[in-house]
Amino acid sequence: MSQQRLTPLYTGVKEHAKKDPIQFHIPGHKKGNGIDPEFREFIGENALSIDLINIGPLDDLHHPHGIIKEAQSLAAEAFGADYTFFSVQGTSGAIMTMIMSVCGPGDKIIVPRNVHKSIMSAIIFSGANPIFIHPEIDKDLGISHGITTDSVIKAIEQHPDAKGLLVINPTYFGISANLKEIVEIAHHANIPVLVDEAHGVHIHFHDELPLSAMQAGADMAATSVHKLGGSMTQSSVLNVKEGLVSPKRVQAIISMLTTTSTSYLLLSSLDVARKQLATVGKKMIDNSIQLAQRTREAINTIPGLYCVGKEILGSKAAYDYDPTKLIISIKNLGITGYEVEVYLREKHNIEVELSDLYNILCIITFGDSEKETSALVHALRELSDLHQDKIEAREAVSVYVPNSPTLALTPRDAFYSDTEVISFDYSAGRIIAEFVMVYPPGIPILIPGEVITEENINYIQENLYAGLPVQGPEDATFKKIRVIKERRPIQ
Ligand SMILES: Cc1ncc(COP(=O)(O)O)c(C=O)c1O
Repeated sequence: MSQQRLTPLYTGVKEHAKKDPIQFHIPGHKKGNGIDPEFREFIGENALSIDLINIGPLDDLHHPHGIIKEAQSLAAEAFGADYTFFSVQGTSGAIMTMIMSVCGPGDKIIVPRNVHKSIMSAIIFSGANPIFIHPEIDKDLGISHGITTDSVIKAIEQHPDAKGLLVINPTYFGISANLKEIVEIAHHANIPVLVDEAHGVHIHFHDELPLSAMQAGADMAATSVHKLGGSMTQSSVLNVKEGLVSPKRVQAIISMLTTTSTSYLLLSSLDVARKQLATVGKKMIDNSIQLAQRTREAINTIPGLYCVGKEILGSKAAYDYDPTKLIISIKNLGITGYEVEVYLREKHNIEVELSDLYNILCIITFGDSEKETSALVHALRELSDLHQDKIEAREAVSVYVPNSPTLALTPRDAFYSDTEVISFDYSAGRIIAEFVMVYPPGIPILIPGEVITEENINYIQENLYAGLPVQGPEDATFKKIRVIKERRPIQ
């Protein structure tokens, strides 16, 4: 533990900057001297002095042997991993590395259908063949949870030759499956388990939270330190347990996918975030859990609102949950989550994590205090008062979640096929060659290779109509969509 108080990377970078060397290397702004003065004043000279590059004394993320290696080793110890790799390309970069480390062209990978777009991108890059598992849908809230152990057993029985199983743990909304059991099932079949832990960096550091990937015995986990662990945006880690995967291959792949100009601001922030999590994380997370619980209770006294708590547990896909996520169901107010998002922004200067048709999601971290949560509760109470006349019984309002589409071609084949652009309204029955998703959360409604249905078209139009950020196609207006070209007989 005492070692965990050290920050070899941050300290090394800071001491290098303190020596104030004459720099004939990039970045060309040279300690901020050549940067726009207004920006320099705003961002501060300290930050600019450590915006450095991989010169000798500062080690190299591509071949760590000095301060980066030491920082990664301390992170591995803190996360219970054999190896930790720092990512300056977000969790997306770490996810692509995980998948490309175990899959090549034609290899099968078992994945839930409600995955983040980076997983689909990696599947296209690697040429892997996705075997989708339908996630459990919460028909009350209108959100997808994780996958069940039963569905994993079935998928492995049908595809024992799969090269990997990917699990989202916890989901964006903080729900976890029984990861330990899933890992045991997959390992029994010699299949490595890769975990998208974008929303779970903190769970490793508090025993009232779901088991982390490393605690559950998974082989790899792409973990967003920047989302909930206190490092700067874009900095993440890839935790690895040796055995079914080779750390040497992981190092080679992450290096192939990473910029050669790695940011020392981001890397240093990973080092200090790890120190904070390992040394005082438990206490800080304890406070966040209690603050979130008090906020949840207060929201649940507001007519028309429901903030999800531990009563959600019990199904196989909802085995555990993270109470610091406030899923607030607003469907009984007779408005959409997006309308609530805009109301909170415009009337109260409050920004939520995400909204969808039926919910808003607010995250509570160790960066919050009672001041922020009281403002949220006050604003939500005012909103509920405004919609008093529309409040309906919770069970009365039904939600709609589309079925998973059918995959007709592998995503890579679809992506590289001959395509044509047709009217979106009349595209049912055609195979799509683009992604369509709402971001956040960035879970594709359609991926290249899937057959478009009327149901998909209606659902996308409903999301667009509600003002939600539907994106993906080249034509952002959704008049046109790119589909696989059909060959008709020559007359
Ligand atoms: C479930 C999930 N996985 C992966 C990612 C990618 O993380 P990053 O934005 O750090 O690349 C996200 C981001 O929103 C996510 O929600």
